[in-house]
Amino acid sequence: MTNLALEQFAKVIEKQLNRIEQMKSEKEFLDYSKLDKIIIGVCGGDGIGPAITKAAHGILEFLLCDDVKAGKVEFKVIDGLTIENRVKANKAIPDDVLEELKACHVILKGPTTTPRAGDPWPNIESANVAMRKELDLFANVRPVKVPEKGIDWTFFRENTEGGYAVGSMGVNVNDDLAIDFTITTQEGSERIARAAFDYAKKNGKTKVTAVTKANVIKTTDGKFLNACKKVAADYPEIDFDDWYIDIMTAKLIDEKRRTGFQVVVLPNLYGDIITDEAAEFQGGVGTAGSSNLGKRYAMFEAIHGSAPRMVAEGRDKYADPCSIIRASVMLLNHIGYSDKAQKLERALDICMYEEKKLVITGRDTGATSEEFAEYVMETIKNL
Ligand code: IPM
Ligand code: MG
Repeated sequence: MTNLALEQFAKVIEKQLNRIEQMKSEKEFLDYSKLDKIIIGVCGGDGIGPAITKAAHGILEFLLCDDVKAGKVEFKVIDGLTIENRVKANKAIPDDVLEELKACHVILKGPTTTPRAGDPWPNIESANVAMRKELDLFANVRPVKVPEKGIDWTFFRENTEGGYAVGSMGVNVNDDLAIDFTITTQEGSERIARAAFDYAKKNGKTKVTAVTKANVIKTTDGKFLNACKKVAADYPEIDFDDWYIDIMTAKLIDEKRRTGFQVVVLPNLYGDIITDEAAEFQGGVGTAGSSNLGKRYAMFEAIHGSAPRMVAEGRDKYADPCSIIRASVMLLNHIGYSDKAQKLERALDICMYEEKKLVITGRDTGATSEEFAEYVMETIKNL
């Protein structure tokens, strides 16, 4: 048993050393302005995913119709990322779907079902986590804003390392001993830190905060923190500080202290946890959009789940598309359509918080996702 465990450890090391070489070979971000045509993949996922993604897709087609006609933008619908297909292929992402995803530049993605213990499906890896790793989407950017409370945070969650990097390679050495691995690389830490500082610089932010538990998880979190400090030295105009994850979690509910945070950079698991807490101040995970950025690909997604219960009860057409529409705003900004992004964001704020002519209740007492999308488009026309 010990030998098997040692062999597994050797495999983990080898895989990560290869990954580091791969990371080092990809230095530049893709420049969308230099492409003849931008290909946008629209991947509905499953559960309520297809319904809400279709609503957001309609809005994007409406906003980009001139560029589609001119051949500058093309939409590609990718249907196969459903739990049934993934189970059939016994893969987090079936090969044909992965190929289709890789033929795009950016992807709008609906939620996908992740099997849990007790479900009728085999325990395949989350499609989200697999896509982030396969397309090397290392920066998970999650903004949270509550203007009336002075909250304006942008989280840069490292998206390919930590406990997630080899989450399915843990070992049960014997019945008494289980070991998981957590990974931090110099390259991986520096690139997320740089992404956070670049964002701060471009967006007039004055402070970046790193969050770790480097007092206890000394080797891996220590490396992450040191990489952030190293990158901070290249941005003398931006203040840098660091907090431990436990006290940071508390400080987000401290009304005086929390308004001081602006851009926050943190390892994968802490980022996963704290962005749910942060989104709650703004109305919950259903209200937040999220982008997953890499050097070659970028993926934009709703951050809630696939709500299979709504589908079982025939209510998927009443699902709330706001989170994936927020993700579409981020997509438009990312590929250089910031004027259209601004319009969509403004229209969405009017529809969700100000005018509220239609409301989504998740049932037939409210509007359908499609009707809500029409409402957003009408609002854009009147801006
Ligand atoms: C998220 C989700 C995923 C994660 C799950 C679905 C695997 O919680 O996007 O934050 O843990 O990253
Ligand atoms: Mg999460």
